[in-house]
Amino acid sequence: MIHIAVMGYGTVGSGVVEVFYKNRESIQRKIGNKPMDIKYILDLRDFPDSPYAGKMIKDFNIIADDPDVEVVAEVMGGLEPAFSFTKTCLERGKSVVTSNKELVAARGAELLEIARRNNVNFFFEASVGGGIPIIRPLHSSLAANEIDEIAGILNGTTNFILTKMIKEQMAFEDALSLAQKLGYAERNPSADVDGHDACRKICILASLSFGNHIYPEFVHTEGIRDITLEDVAYAGDWGGVIKLIGRAKRVSEDGGEIYAMVSPAFISNDSQLSSVDDVFNGILVRGDATGDVVFYGKGAGKLPTASAVIADIVDAVKATSTSKSLHWKDDGNNHVLDYKQQPGAFYLRMLGGAAGIQKARELFGEIRLLRRPGQPEEEFAFVTPLFTEAVMEDKVSELEGSGCRKLAMLRVLDY
Ligand code: HSE
Repeated sequence: MIHIAVMGYGTVGSGVVEVFYKNRESIQRKIGNKPMDIKYILDLRDFPDSPYAGKMIKDFNIIADDPDVEVVAEVMGGLEPAFSFTKTCLERGKSVVTSNKELVAARGAELLEIARRNNVNFFFEASVGGGIPIIRPLHSSLAANEIDEIAGILNGTTNFILTKMIKEQMAFEDALSLAQKLGYAERNPSADVDGHDACRKICILASLSFGNHIYPEFVHTEGIRDITLEDVAYAGDWGGVIKLIGRAKRVSEDGGEIYAMVSPAFISNDSQLSSVDDVFNGILVRGDATGDVVFYGKGAGKLPTASAVIADIVDAVKATSTSKSLHWKDDGNNHVLDYKQQPGAFYLRMLGGAAGIQKARELFGEIRLLRRPGQPEEEFAFVTPLFTEAVMEDKVSELEGSGCRKLAMLRVLDY
Protein backbone atom coordinates (compact mmCIF):
# COMPACT_ATOMS: atom_id res chain seq x y z
CA MET A 1 0.00 0.00 0.00
CA ILE A 2 1.27 3.46 -0.90
CA HIS A 3 0.46 5.89 1.88
CA ILE A 4 -0.09 9.58 1.30
CA ALA A 5 -0.52 12.44 3.74
CA VAL A 6 -2.30 15.70 2.99
CA MET A 7 -1.19 18.75 4.98
CA GLY A 8 -3.97 21.36 5.01
CA TYR A 9 -7.70 20.78 4.61
CA GLY A 10 -8.74 24.13 3.12
CA THR A 11 -10.06 24.67 -0.39
CA VAL A 12 -7.25 22.81 -2.18
CA GLY A 13 -6.71 20.13 0.48
CA SER A 14 -10.38 19.15 0.65
CA GLY A 15 -10.37 19.11 -3.17
CA VAL A 16 -7.38 16.74 -3.21
CA VAL A 17 -9.15 14.33 -0.83
CA GLU A 18 -12.41 14.58 -2.79
CA VAL A 19 -10.82 13.97 -6.21
CA PHE A 20 -8.60 11.20 -4.83
CA TYR A 21 -11.53 9.16 -3.48
CA LYS A 22 -13.76 9.93 -6.47
CA ASN A 23 -11.16 8.74 -9.00
CA ARG A 24 -9.15 6.38 -6.83
CA GLU A 25 -9.48 3.40 -9.12
CA SER A 26 -8.30 5.19 -12.25
CA ILE A 27 -5.51 6.93 -10.27
CA GLN A 28 -4.29 3.53 -9.04
CA ARG A 29 -4.39 2.17 -12.59
CA LYS A 30 -1.94 4.93 -13.57
CA ILE A 31 0.58 3.63 -11.05
CA GLY A 32 0.37 0.03 -12.20
CA ASN A 33 -2.66 -0.92 -10.09
CA LYS A 34 -0.78 -0.48 -6.82
CA PRO A 35 -3.17 0.22 -3.93
CA MET A 36 -2.86 3.76 -2.61
CA ASP A 37 -4.61 5.55 0.25
CA ILE A 38 -4.58 8.79 2.19
CA LYS A 39 -3.38 7.90 5.67
CA TYR A 40 -3.41 11.32 7.35
CA ILE A 41 -4.96 14.73 6.85
CA LEU A 42 -3.21 17.40 8.90
CA ASP A 43 -5.18 20.47 9.97
CA LEU A 44 -5.46 22.36 13.24
CA ARG A 45 -9.21 22.73 12.87
CA ASP A 46 -11.80 20.06 13.81
CA PHE A 47 -13.96 18.44 11.16
CA PRO A 48 -16.12 16.08 13.28
CA ASP A 49 -18.76 15.59 10.56
CA SER A 50 -16.30 14.83 7.79
CA PRO A 51 -16.31 11.27 6.39
CA TYR A 52 -12.52 11.49 6.81
CA ALA A 53 -12.60 12.48 10.50
CA GLY A 54 -10.70 9.28 11.37
CA LYS A 55 -7.72 10.41 9.29
CA MET A 56 -7.53 13.94 10.76
CA ILE A 57 -4.48 14.76 12.86
CA LYS A 58 -3.13 17.97 14.36
CA ASP A 59 0.47 16.92 15.03
CA PHE A 60 2.87 17.11 12.07
CA ASN A 61 5.33 14.73 13.76
CA ILE A 62 2.92 11.84 13.21
CA ILE A 63 3.53 12.26 9.47
CA ALA A 64 7.24 12.98 9.80
CA ASP A 65 7.80 9.92 12.01
CA ASP A 66 5.74 7.46 9.96
CA PRO A 67 8.03 5.62 7.54
CA ASP A 68 4.97 4.29 5.67
CA VAL A 69 4.13 7.75 4.32
CA GLU A 70 5.84 8.01 0.92
CA VAL A 71 4.31 11.16 -0.54
CA VAL A 72 3.07 14.28 1.23
CA ALA A 73 0.83 16.92 -0.37
CA GLU A 74 1.57 20.32 1.17
CA VAL A 75 -1.51 22.42 0.49
CA MET A 76 -1.48 24.68 3.55
CA GLY A 77 -0.16 27.80 1.83
CA GLY A 78 2.08 30.46 3.39
CA LEU A 79 5.79 30.23 4.12
CA GLU A 80 5.76 28.81 7.63
CA PRO A 81 5.26 26.20 8.82
CA ALA A 82 4.98 25.00 5.18
CA PHE A 83 8.74 25.39 4.59
CA SER A 84 9.83 23.60 7.78
CA PHE A 85 7.33 20.77 7.29
CA THR A 86 8.32 20.32 3.64
CA LYS A 87 12.03 20.34 4.44
CA THR A 88 11.57 17.75 7.21
CA CYS A 89 9.52 15.47 4.95
CA LEU A 90 12.14 15.63 2.19
CA GLU A 91 14.94 14.97 4.67
CA ARG A 92 13.04 11.93 5.96
CA GLY A 93 12.87 10.48 2.45
CA LYS A 94 9.30 11.49 1.58
CA SER A 95 8.48 13.15 -1.73
CA VAL A 96 6.51 16.38 -1.40
CA VAL A 97 4.09 17.90 -3.88
CA THR A 98 2.76 21.38 -3.32
CA SER A 99 0.33 23.98 -4.63
CA ASN A 100 2.09 26.66 -2.56
CA LYS A 101 3.44 29.32 -4.94
CA GLU A 102 4.68 31.49 -2.09
CA LEU A 103 6.84 28.63 -0.88
CA VAL A 104 8.23 27.75 -4.32
CA ALA A 105 8.84 31.38 -5.30
CA ALA A 106 10.73 32.06 -2.05
CA ARG A 107 12.52 28.76 -1.36
CA GLY A 108 12.10 26.61 -4.49
CA ALA A 109 15.80 26.26 -5.39
CA GLU A 110 16.64 25.23 -1.83
CA LEU A 111 13.85 22.66 -1.57
CA LEU A 112 14.72 21.16 -4.97
CA GLU A 113 18.30 20.79 -3.79
CA ILE A 114 17.22 19.13 -0.51
CA ALA A 115 14.99 16.76 -2.52
CA ARG A 116 17.89 15.93 -4.80
CA ARG A 117 20.24 15.21 -1.90
CA ASN A 118 17.67 12.90 -0.33
CA ASN A 119 16.78 11.16 -3.58
CA VAL A 120 13.12 12.13 -3.43
CA ASN A 121 10.90 14.41 -5.50
CA PHE A 122 9.68 17.93 -4.94
CA PHE A 123 6.94 18.76 -7.45
CA PHE A 124 4.83 21.91 -7.75
CA GLU A 125 2.64 21.69 -10.85
CA ALA A 126 -0.33 23.17 -8.94
CA SER A 127 1.61 26.27 -7.91
CA VAL A 128 1.13 27.94 -11.31
CA GLY A 129 -1.97 27.93 -13.49
CA GLY A 130 -4.20 25.83 -11.21
CA GLY A 131 -5.30 22.86 -13.30
CA ILE A 132 -3.24 23.82 -16.38
CA PRO A 133 -0.20 21.62 -16.96
CA ILE A 134 2.60 24.18 -17.34
CA ILE A 135 5.54 23.23 -15.10
CA ARG A 136 6.02 19.78 -16.60
CA PRO A 137 5.54 20.94 -20.23
CA LEU A 138 8.01 23.79 -19.67
CA HIS A 139 10.51 21.41 -18.14
CA SER A 140 10.03 18.40 -20.42
CA SER A 141 7.97 18.93 -23.56
CA LEU A 142 9.69 22.20 -24.48
CA ALA A 143 13.13 20.96 -23.46
CA ALA A 144 14.51 21.42 -26.97
CA ASN A 145 13.88 25.16 -26.82
CA GLU A 146 15.60 28.12 -25.33
CA ILE A 147 12.68 30.00 -23.82
CA ASP A 148 12.84 33.63 -24.95
CA GLU A 149 9.80 34.99 -23.24
CA ILE A 150 6.77 34.09 -21.11
CA ALA A 151 3.65 36.20 -20.67
CA GLY A 152 0.60 35.10 -18.82
CA ILE A 153 -2.67 35.82 -17.18
CA LEU A 154 -1.64 34.06 -14.01
CA ASN A 155 -4.23 35.08 -11.46
CA GLY A 156 -7.79 33.80 -11.74
CA THR A 157 -9.28 36.21 -9.21
CA THR A 158 -8.11 39.40 -10.92
CA ASN A 159 -9.02 38.01 -14.33
CA PHE A 160 -12.48 37.21 -13.00
CA ILE A 161 -12.82 40.76 -11.60
CA LEU A 162 -11.58 42.42 -14.81
CA THR A 163 -13.91 40.26 -16.91
CA LYS A 164 -16.89 41.26 -14.77
CA MET A 165 -15.87 44.93 -15.08
CA ILE A 166 -15.42 44.68 -18.86
CA LYS A 167 -18.45 42.57 -19.72
CA GLU A 168 -20.98 43.43 -17.01
CA GLN A 169 -19.76 46.81 -15.73
CA MET A 170 -19.73 45.20 -12.27
CA ALA A 171 -18.11 47.20 -9.48
CA PHE A 172 -14.67 46.04 -8.34
CA GLU A 173 -15.75 45.15 -4.75
CA ASP A 174 -18.77 43.09 -5.88
CA ALA A 175 -16.67 41.10 -8.33
CA LEU A 176 -14.05 40.48 -5.62
CA SER A 177 -16.69 39.21 -3.14
CA LEU A 178 -18.01 36.83 -5.77
CA ALA A 179 -14.49 35.52 -6.50
CA GLN A 180 -13.99 34.94 -2.76
CA LYS A 181 -17.29 33.12 -2.49
CA LEU A 182 -16.31 30.85 -5.39
CA GLY A 183 -13.04 29.92 -3.64
CA TYR A 184 -10.68 31.58 -6.15
CA ALA A 185 -9.18 34.30 -3.98
CA GLU A 186 -6.26 34.02 -1.57
CA ARG A 187 -6.92 34.17 2.18
CA ASN A 188 -5.73 37.75 1.98
CA PRO A 189 -7.17 38.99 -1.33
CA SER A 190 -4.53 41.73 -1.48
CA ALA A 191 -2.22 38.97 -2.77
CA ASP A 192 -4.52 38.72 -5.78
CA VAL A 193 -5.57 42.31 -6.46
CA ASP A 194 -2.15 43.84 -5.80
CA GLY A 195 -0.42 41.39 -8.13
CA HIS A 196 1.72 39.47 -5.60
CA ASP A 197 0.23 36.10 -6.46
CA ALA A 198 0.87 36.65 -10.18
CA CYS A 199 4.37 37.84 -9.28
CA ARG A 200 5.17 34.62 -7.42
CA LYS A 201 3.92 32.61 -10.38
CA ILE A 202 5.95 34.49 -13.01
CA CYS A 203 8.99 34.09 -10.73
CA ILE A 204 8.52 30.31 -10.67
CA LEU A 205 8.12 30.17 -14.46
CA ALA A 206 11.11 32.46 -15.00
CA SER A 207 13.30 30.46 -12.59
CA LEU A 208 12.44 27.25 -14.39
CA SER A 209 12.84 28.76 -17.87
CA PHE A 210 15.98 30.82 -17.41
CA GLY A 211 17.82 28.75 -14.81
CA ASN A 212 18.33 31.22 -11.95
CA HIS A 213 16.14 31.73 -8.90
CA ILE A 214 14.10 34.88 -9.50
CA TYR A 215 12.99 36.52 -6.27
CA PRO A 216 9.56 38.22 -6.16
CA GLU A 217 11.00 41.24 -4.34
CA PHE A 218 13.05 42.17 -7.41
CA VAL A 219 10.10 42.04 -9.80
CA HIS A 220 8.21 45.30 -10.25
CA THR A 221 4.57 44.53 -9.44
CA GLU A 222 1.39 46.52 -9.90
CA GLY A 223 -2.18 45.35 -9.25
CA ILE A 224 -5.59 46.23 -10.62
CA ARG A 225 -7.06 48.43 -7.85
CA ASP A 226 -6.77 51.61 -9.91
CA ILE A 227 -8.30 50.30 -13.12
CA THR A 228 -11.47 52.19 -13.96
CA LEU A 229 -14.33 51.62 -16.38
CA GLU A 230 -13.05 54.68 -18.29
CA ASP A 231 -9.73 52.90 -18.96
CA VAL A 232 -11.65 49.78 -19.98
CA ALA A 233 -13.63 51.88 -22.51
CA TYR A 234 -10.47 53.46 -23.99
CA ALA A 235 -8.88 50.01 -24.29
CA GLY A 236 -11.97 48.95 -26.24
CA ASP A 237 -11.58 51.89 -28.61
CA TRP A 238 -7.92 51.00 -29.11
CA GLY A 239 -9.03 47.47 -30.06
CA GLY A 240 -8.27 45.50 -26.95
CA VAL A 241 -8.85 44.73 -23.29
CA ILE A 242 -7.07 45.32 -19.99
CA LYS A 243 -5.51 42.21 -18.42
CA LEU A 244 -3.16 41.66 -15.50
CA ILE A 245 -0.05 40.25 -17.18
CA GLY A 246 2.97 38.61 -15.59
CA ARG A 247 5.87 38.55 -18.02
CA ALA A 248 9.52 37.63 -18.17
CA LYS A 249 11.98 37.99 -21.03
CA ARG A 250 15.47 36.64 -21.45
CA VAL A 251 17.93 39.44 -22.21
CA SER A 252 21.34 37.78 -22.01
CA GLU A 253 21.98 34.55 -23.89
CA ASP A 254 22.66 32.56 -20.70
CA GLY A 255 19.51 33.81 -18.93
CA GLY A 256 21.63 35.63 -16.33
CA GLU A 257 19.84 38.90 -17.14
CA ILE A 258 16.12 39.09 -17.64
CA TYR A 259 13.28 41.58 -17.60
CA ALA A 260 10.31 40.63 -15.43
CA MET A 261 7.22 42.54 -14.38
CA VAL A 262 3.59 42.20 -13.31
CA SER A 263 1.17 44.92 -14.31
CA PRO A 264 -2.20 45.57 -15.87
CA ALA A 265 -1.80 46.25 -19.58
CA PHE A 266 -3.62 46.82 -22.85
CA ILE A 267 -3.72 43.59 -24.86
CA SER A 268 -4.92 43.62 -28.45
CA ASN A 269 -8.07 41.69 -29.39
CA ASP A 270 -5.84 39.81 -31.85
CA SER A 271 -3.78 38.36 -28.99
CA GLN A 272 -4.62 34.87 -27.79
CA LEU A 273 -4.48 36.22 -24.24
CA SER A 274 -7.28 38.74 -24.88
CA SER A 275 -10.02 36.10 -24.88
CA VAL A 276 -8.83 34.42 -21.67
CA ASP A 277 -11.74 35.40 -19.42
CA ASP A 278 -13.22 34.75 -15.99
CA VAL A 279 -11.16 32.50 -13.72
CA PHE A 280 -9.22 31.08 -16.67
CA ASN A 281 -5.49 31.57 -17.00
CA GLY A 282 -3.54 31.73 -20.24
CA ILE A 283 0.21 31.39 -20.48
CA LEU A 284 2.11 32.18 -23.67
CA VAL A 285 5.57 30.63 -23.93
CA ARG A 286 7.82 31.84 -26.71
CA GLY A 287 10.40 29.17 -27.53
CA ASP A 288 13.19 29.66 -30.06
CA ALA A 289 12.20 26.51 -31.94
CA THR A 290 8.44 26.29 -31.34
CA GLY A 291 7.51 29.95 -31.59
CA ASP A 292 4.49 30.76 -29.44
CA VAL A 293 2.79 27.99 -27.46
CA VAL A 294 -0.24 28.91 -25.38
CA PHE A 295 -1.54 27.04 -22.34
CA TYR A 296 -5.13 27.65 -21.29
CA GLY A 297 -7.42 26.40 -18.54
CA LYS A 298 -8.88 27.02 -15.11
CA GLY A 299 -6.23 28.81 -13.11
CA ALA A 300 -7.87 28.64 -9.69
CA GLY A 301 -10.51 26.75 -7.77
CA LYS A 302 -10.74 23.64 -5.67
CA LEU A 303 -10.98 20.83 -8.21
CA PRO A 304 -8.70 22.15 -11.01
CA THR A 305 -5.91 22.77 -8.48
CA ALA A 306 -6.53 19.41 -6.81
CA SER A 307 -6.16 17.78 -10.23
CA ALA A 308 -2.63 19.18 -10.58
CA VAL A 309 -1.70 18.13 -7.02
CA ILE A 310 -2.83 14.56 -7.68
CA ALA A 311 -0.99 14.45 -11.01
CA ASP A 312 2.17 15.28 -9.05
CA ILE A 313 1.40 12.56 -6.48
CA VAL A 314 1.05 10.05 -9.32
CA ASP A 315 4.36 11.20 -10.83
CA ALA A 316 6.12 11.12 -7.48
CA VAL A 317 4.95 7.54 -6.92
CA LYS A 318 5.99 6.51 -10.44
CA ALA A 319 9.44 8.09 -10.23
CA THR A 320 11.79 5.57 -8.74
CA SER A 321 14.33 8.24 -7.90
CA THR A 322 14.38 12.00 -7.71
CA SER A 323 13.65 14.06 -10.81
CA LYS A 324 17.19 15.42 -10.73
CA SER A 325 16.85 17.56 -13.82
CA LEU A 326 14.10 19.72 -12.29
CA HIS A 327 16.12 22.47 -10.69
CA TRP A 328 17.53 25.97 -10.99
CA LYS A 329 20.45 27.81 -9.40
CA ASP A 330 20.26 30.20 -6.51
CA ASP A 331 23.45 32.26 -6.39
CA GLY A 332 21.86 34.91 -4.16
CA ASN A 333 22.07 37.55 -6.91
CA ASN A 334 19.33 39.59 -8.50
CA HIS A 335 18.99 38.63 -12.17
CA VAL A 336 16.20 41.08 -12.99
CA LEU A 337 17.18 44.23 -14.87
CA ASP A 338 15.73 47.65 -14.03
CA TYR A 339 12.19 47.65 -15.47
CA LYS A 340 12.50 51.35 -16.22
CA GLN A 341 14.95 50.54 -19.01
CA GLN A 342 12.62 48.15 -20.83
CA PRO A 343 11.12 49.82 -23.90
CA GLY A 344 7.40 49.65 -24.53
CA ALA A 345 4.35 51.62 -25.63
CA PHE A 346 2.10 53.33 -23.09
CA TYR A 347 -1.53 54.39 -22.73
CA LEU A 348 -2.09 57.73 -21.00
CA ARG A 349 -5.34 59.33 -19.86
CA MET A 350 -4.99 63.00 -19.01
CA LEU A 351 -6.91 66.17 -18.27
CA GLY A 352 -5.76 69.10 -20.38
CA GLY A 353 -7.98 69.68 -23.42
CA ALA A 354 -6.78 70.73 -26.88
CA ALA A 355 -3.63 72.44 -25.56
CA GLY A 356 -2.72 69.23 -23.73
CA ILE A 357 -3.11 67.18 -26.90
CA GLN A 358 -0.89 69.62 -28.77
CA LYS A 359 1.80 69.35 -26.08
CA ALA A 360 1.50 65.55 -26.04
CA ARG A 361 2.13 65.49 -29.79
CA GLU A 362 5.26 67.63 -29.32
CA LEU A 363 6.57 65.35 -26.58
CA PHE A 364 5.62 61.89 -27.84
CA GLY A 365 5.48 62.29 -31.63
CA GLU A 366 3.03 59.93 -33.37
CA ILE A 367 0.35 59.41 -30.74
CA ARG A 368 -2.89 57.55 -31.34
CA LEU A 369 -5.81 59.43 -29.79
CA LEU A 370 -8.59 57.33 -28.26
CA ARG A 371 -12.28 58.06 -27.67
CA ARG A 372 -14.93 56.82 -25.26
CA PRO A 373 -18.65 57.48 -24.86
CA GLY A 374 -19.31 60.29 -22.39
CA GLN A 375 -15.73 61.58 -22.62
CA PRO A 376 -15.54 64.97 -20.85
CA GLU A 377 -14.22 67.82 -22.98
CA GLU A 378 -11.03 68.27 -20.96
CA GLU A 379 -10.14 64.56 -20.94
CA PHE A 380 -7.92 63.02 -23.59
CA ALA A 381 -6.33 59.61 -23.94
CA PHE A 382 -3.70 58.26 -26.29
CA VAL A 383 -1.20 55.50 -26.98
CA THR A 384 2.46 56.43 -27.45
CA PRO A 385 5.22 54.96 -29.64
CA LEU A 386 7.93 52.92 -27.86
CA PHE A 387 9.88 54.56 -25.02
CA THR A 388 11.61 53.29 -21.92
CA GLU A 389 9.68 53.88 -18.72
CA ALA A 390 12.40 56.26 -17.50
CA VAL A 391 11.94 58.45 -20.60
CA MET A 392 8.15 58.22 -20.23
CA GLU A 393 8.34 59.50 -16.65
CA ASP A 394 10.30 62.58 -17.79
CA LYS A 395 7.89 63.29 -20.61
CA VAL A 396 4.83 62.84 -18.40
CA SER A 397 6.32 65.25 -15.84
CA GLU A 398 6.85 67.76 -18.60
CA LEU A 399 3.27 67.30 -19.78
CA GLU A 400 2.03 67.82 -16.23
CA GLY A 401 4.27 70.87 -15.94
CA SER A 402 2.41 72.36 -18.90
CA GLY A 403 -0.88 72.26 -16.97
CA CYS A 404 -2.15 68.74 -17.74
CA ARG A 405 -3.08 66.20 -15.05
CA LYS A 406 -2.36 62.49 -15.37
CA LEU A 407 -5.38 60.30 -14.61
CA ALA A 408 -4.03 56.92 -15.69
CA MET A 409 -1.02 55.32 -17.33
CA LEU A 410 -0.82 51.70 -18.45
CA ARG A 411 1.53 49.63 -20.58
CA VAL A 412 0.54 48.47 -24.04
CA LEU A 413 1.84 44.99 -24.86
CA ASP A 414 2.20 43.19 -28.16
CA TYR A 415 1.81 39.51 -27.32
N1 HSE B 1 -5.83 33.16 -5.79
C1 HSE B 1 -5.26 32.43 -6.86
C2 HSE B 1 -5.88 32.93 -8.16
C3 HSE B 1 -5.49 30.97 -6.67
O1 HSE B 1 -6.91 33.62 -8.10
O2 HSE B 1 -5.36 32.66 -9.23
C4 HSE B 1 -4.73 30.09 -7.61
O3 HSE B 1 -3.36 30.20 -7.44
